[in-house]
Amino acid sequence: MFETLEDIRADIAARLGEAASNRRSAMHVPVVGTTDGDLRMMVLRAFDPGDWTLRFHTDVRSPKVATIGQGGRVSVLLHDPEAKMQLRCRGQGRIETQGGVADAAWAEATNYAKRCYLSEAAPGAHSEAATSGLPAEVEGINPSAEQLLPARANFAVLLVDITSVDWLYLAHDGHRRAQFSVPGGAGRWVVP
Ligand SMILES: Cc1cc2nc3c(=O)[nH]c(=O)nc-3n(C[C@H](O)[C@H](O)[C@H](O)COP(=O)(O)O)c2cc1C
Repeated sequence: MFETLEDIRADIAARLGEAASNRRSAMHVPVVGTTDGDLRMMVLRAFDPGDWTLRFHTDVRSPKVATIGQGGRVSVLLHDPEAKMQLRCRGQGRIETQGGVADAAWAEATNYAKRCYLSEAAPGAHSEAATSGLPAEVEGINPSAEQLLPARANFAVLLVDITSVDWLYLAHDGHRRAQFSVPGGAGRWVVP
Protein backbone atom coordinates (compact mmCIF):
# COMPACT_ATOMS: atom_id res chain seq x y z
CA MET A 1 0.00 0.00 0.00
CA PHE A 2 1.29 3.44 -0.95
CA GLU A 3 4.51 1.98 -2.32
CA THR A 4 4.81 4.19 -5.37
CA LEU A 5 4.03 7.81 -6.13
CA GLU A 6 1.72 6.75 -8.95
CA ASP A 7 -0.28 4.48 -6.60
CA ILE A 8 -0.68 7.41 -4.23
CA ARG A 9 -1.75 9.81 -6.97
CA ALA A 10 -4.41 7.34 -8.10
CA ASP A 11 -5.53 6.82 -4.50
CA ILE A 12 -5.88 10.58 -3.96
CA ALA A 13 -8.06 10.90 -7.07
CA ALA A 14 -10.22 7.99 -5.91
CA ARG A 15 -10.62 9.53 -2.45
CA LEU A 16 -11.62 12.92 -3.86
CA GLY A 17 -14.23 11.20 -6.01
CA GLU A 18 -15.55 9.27 -3.02
CA ALA A 19 -15.53 12.44 -0.88
CA ALA A 20 -17.75 14.18 -3.42
CA SER A 21 -20.20 11.33 -3.99
CA ASN A 22 -20.51 9.84 -0.50
CA ARG A 23 -22.11 12.02 2.18
CA ARG A 24 -20.67 9.73 4.85
CA SER A 25 -17.08 10.20 3.66
CA ALA A 26 -14.90 11.90 6.28
CA MET A 27 -13.67 14.14 3.48
CA HIS A 28 -17.14 15.23 2.30
CA VAL A 29 -16.96 18.66 3.96
CA PRO A 30 -13.44 20.05 3.55
CA VAL A 31 -12.09 23.34 4.83
CA VAL A 32 -11.73 25.90 2.04
CA GLY A 33 -9.19 28.69 2.47
CA THR A 34 -8.89 31.99 0.61
CA THR A 35 -6.11 34.57 0.22
CA ASP A 36 -7.72 36.92 2.75
CA GLY A 37 -6.77 34.38 5.43
CA ASP A 38 -10.35 33.19 5.95
CA LEU A 39 -11.41 29.55 6.19
CA ARG A 40 -14.79 27.88 6.00
CA MET A 41 -16.27 24.41 5.65
CA MET A 42 -18.01 23.64 2.36
CA VAL A 43 -19.71 20.54 1.05
CA LEU A 44 -17.71 18.99 -1.78
CA ARG A 45 -20.20 18.43 -4.61
CA ALA A 46 -18.09 16.99 -7.40
CA PHE A 47 -14.58 16.02 -8.43
CA ASP A 48 -13.51 15.75 -12.05
CA PRO A 49 -10.54 13.36 -12.22
CA GLY A 50 -9.68 14.49 -15.77
CA ASP A 51 -8.65 18.01 -14.88
CA TRP A 52 -8.66 17.68 -11.08
CA THR A 53 -11.45 20.21 -10.59
CA LEU A 54 -13.50 20.39 -7.41
CA ARG A 55 -17.01 21.85 -7.36
CA PHE A 56 -18.68 23.62 -4.46
CA HIS A 57 -21.95 25.57 -4.22
CA THR A 58 -22.35 28.93 -2.56
CA ASP A 59 -24.27 32.20 -2.36
CA VAL A 60 -23.02 34.69 -4.92
CA ARG A 61 -23.35 37.44 -2.30
CA SER A 62 -21.04 35.75 0.22
CA PRO A 63 -17.69 37.48 0.85
CA LYS A 64 -15.60 34.57 -0.44
CA VAL A 65 -17.12 34.97 -3.90
CA ALA A 66 -15.67 38.48 -4.27
CA THR A 67 -12.33 37.31 -2.83
CA ILE A 68 -12.03 34.40 -5.27
CA GLY A 69 -13.53 35.97 -8.40
CA GLN A 70 -11.92 34.55 -11.52
CA GLY A 71 -8.62 32.92 -10.66
CA GLY A 72 -8.14 33.67 -6.96
CA ARG A 73 -5.93 31.19 -5.15
CA VAL A 74 -7.86 28.65 -3.06
CA SER A 75 -6.71 25.92 -0.69
CA VAL A 76 -8.79 22.89 0.25
CA LEU A 77 -7.96 20.84 3.34
CA LEU A 78 -9.34 17.32 3.76
CA HIS A 79 -8.80 14.81 6.57
CA ASP A 80 -9.86 11.22 7.05
CA PRO A 81 -8.97 10.11 10.60
CA GLU A 82 -9.69 6.44 9.92
CA ALA A 83 -7.51 6.42 6.81
CA LYS A 84 -4.96 8.51 8.78
CA MET A 85 -4.68 10.79 5.81
CA GLN A 86 -4.48 14.52 5.25
CA LEU A 87 -4.78 16.11 1.80
CA ARG A 88 -3.81 19.74 1.26
CA CYS A 89 -4.91 20.89 -2.17
CA ARG A 90 -3.93 24.18 -3.75
CA GLY A 91 -5.47 25.62 -6.85
CA GLN A 92 -7.19 28.43 -8.64
CA GLY A 93 -10.82 29.21 -7.98
CA ARG A 94 -13.41 30.57 -10.35
CA ILE A 95 -16.98 31.54 -9.71
CA GLU A 96 -19.69 30.67 -12.22
CA THR A 97 -23.25 31.90 -11.93
CA GLN A 98 -24.44 31.23 -15.48
CA GLY A 99 -23.79 28.51 -18.03
CA GLY A 100 -23.99 24.76 -18.21
CA VAL A 101 -22.18 23.86 -15.00
CA ALA A 102 -24.14 26.26 -12.79
CA ASP A 103 -27.45 25.38 -14.46
CA ALA A 104 -26.86 21.64 -14.06
CA ALA A 105 -25.80 22.06 -10.43
CA TRP A 106 -28.95 24.06 -9.72
CA ALA A 107 -31.14 21.54 -11.51
CA GLU A 108 -29.81 18.64 -9.44
CA ALA A 109 -30.10 20.41 -6.06
CA THR A 110 -33.08 19.57 -3.86
CA ASN A 111 -35.68 22.21 -3.07
CA TYR A 112 -34.56 22.08 0.53
CA ALA A 113 -30.95 22.86 -0.46
CA LYS A 114 -32.13 25.62 -2.80
CA ARG A 115 -34.03 27.27 0.02
CA CYS A 116 -30.77 28.70 1.50
CA TYR A 117 -30.49 30.92 -1.56
CA LEU A 118 -33.79 32.66 -0.75
CA SER A 119 -32.09 34.57 2.05
CA GLU A 120 -33.09 38.21 1.71
CA ALA A 121 -29.76 39.70 2.77
CA ALA A 122 -26.24 38.59 1.94
CA PRO A 123 -24.48 35.99 4.12
CA GLY A 124 -22.58 37.95 6.75
CA ALA A 125 -24.96 40.94 6.68
CA HIS A 126 -25.63 42.42 10.13
CA SER A 127 -29.00 41.70 11.75
CA GLU A 128 -30.56 43.28 14.86
CA ALA A 129 -31.93 39.89 15.95
CA ALA A 130 -31.05 36.23 15.51
CA THR A 131 -32.16 35.24 12.03
CA SER A 132 -32.05 32.56 9.33
CA GLY A 133 -32.27 35.35 6.78
CA LEU A 134 -35.13 33.51 5.06
CA PRO A 135 -38.48 35.08 4.22
CA ALA A 136 -41.04 34.06 6.90
CA GLU A 137 -43.23 32.15 4.42
CA VAL A 138 -40.50 29.60 3.61
CA GLU A 139 -39.03 29.22 7.08
CA GLY A 140 -39.31 25.60 8.24
CA ILE A 141 -40.88 24.31 5.02
CA ASN A 142 -39.72 22.66 1.82
CA PRO A 143 -40.46 25.45 -0.67
CA SER A 144 -42.21 24.90 -3.99
CA ALA A 145 -40.51 25.41 -7.35
CA GLU A 146 -42.45 28.64 -7.72
CA GLN A 147 -41.33 29.95 -4.33
CA LEU A 148 -37.75 29.15 -5.31
CA LEU A 149 -37.74 31.22 -8.50
CA PRO A 150 -35.91 34.21 -6.91
CA ALA A 151 -33.27 31.90 -5.37
CA ARG A 152 -31.51 31.03 -8.62
CA ALA A 153 -30.05 34.55 -8.94
CA ASN A 154 -28.19 34.07 -5.65
CA PHE A 155 -26.68 30.69 -6.54
CA ALA A 156 -23.09 30.29 -7.65
CA VAL A 157 -20.74 27.45 -8.31
CA LEU A 158 -17.15 27.58 -7.06
CA LEU A 159 -14.80 25.54 -9.22
CA VAL A 160 -11.31 24.89 -7.93
CA ASP A 161 -8.76 23.74 -10.50
CA ILE A 162 -6.27 21.91 -8.32
CA THR A 163 -2.63 22.49 -9.25
CA SER A 164 -0.87 20.67 -6.40
CA VAL A 165 -1.63 18.21 -3.60
CA ASP A 166 0.35 17.61 -0.42
CA TRP A 167 -0.37 14.08 0.86
CA LEU A 168 0.39 13.02 4.45
CA TYR A 169 -0.15 9.50 5.74
CA LEU A 170 0.31 8.73 9.42
CA ALA A 171 1.76 5.31 10.29
CA HIS A 172 3.23 3.75 13.44
CA ASP A 173 6.35 2.63 11.66
CA GLY A 174 6.96 6.07 10.19
CA HIS A 175 4.79 8.67 8.54
CA ARG A 176 4.93 9.23 4.81
CA ARG A 177 4.52 12.42 2.82
CA ALA A 178 4.50 13.24 -0.87
CA GLN A 179 3.69 16.18 -3.09
CA PHE A 180 2.12 16.12 -6.54
CA SER A 181 1.64 18.56 -9.35
CA VAL A 182 -1.71 17.80 -10.96
CA PRO A 183 -3.28 16.90 -13.29
CA GLY A 184 -0.19 15.56 -15.00
CA GLY A 185 2.96 16.79 -13.34
CA ALA A 186 5.57 15.06 -11.28
CA GLY A 187 5.27 13.62 -7.77
CA ARG A 188 8.02 13.58 -5.16
CA TRP A 189 8.57 12.21 -1.71
CA VAL A 190 9.17 14.71 1.09
CA VAL A 191 10.01 14.38 4.78
CA PRO A 192 6.79 14.36 6.84
C1 LIG B 1 -20.93 21.41 7.77
C2 LIG B 1 -20.98 22.71 7.02
C3 LIG B 1 -21.18 22.72 5.65
C4 LIG B 1 -21.21 23.92 4.95
N1 LIG B 1 -21.38 23.88 3.59
C5 LIG B 1 -21.35 25.05 2.88
C6 LIG B 1 -21.42 25.03 1.45
O1 LIG B 1 -21.51 23.98 0.80
N2 LIG B 1 -21.38 26.22 0.80
C7 LIG B 1 -21.25 27.41 1.47
O2 LIG B 1 -21.21 28.45 0.83
N3 LIG B 1 -21.19 27.46 2.82
C8 LIG B 1 -21.22 26.30 3.54
N4 LIG B 1 -21.13 26.33 4.91
C9 LIG B 1 -21.07 27.65 5.58
C10 LIG B 1 -19.65 28.21 5.44
O3 LIG B 1 -18.79 27.49 6.31
C11 LIG B 1 -19.60 29.71 5.77
O4 LIG B 1 -20.04 29.94 7.07
C12 LIG B 1 -20.42 30.55 4.79
O5 LIG B 1 -20.32 30.06 3.48
C13 LIG B 1 -19.95 32.01 4.79
O6 LIG B 1 -18.62 32.03 4.33
P1 LIG B 1 -17.85 33.35 3.89
O7 LIG B 1 -18.22 34.43 4.87
O8 LIG B 1 -16.43 32.99 3.96
O9 LIG B 1 -18.28 33.68 2.48
C14 LIG B 1 -21.07 25.15 5.64
C15 LIG B 1 -20.86 25.13 7.01
C16 LIG B 1 -20.82 23.95 7.69
C17 LIG B 1 -20.60 23.98 9.18
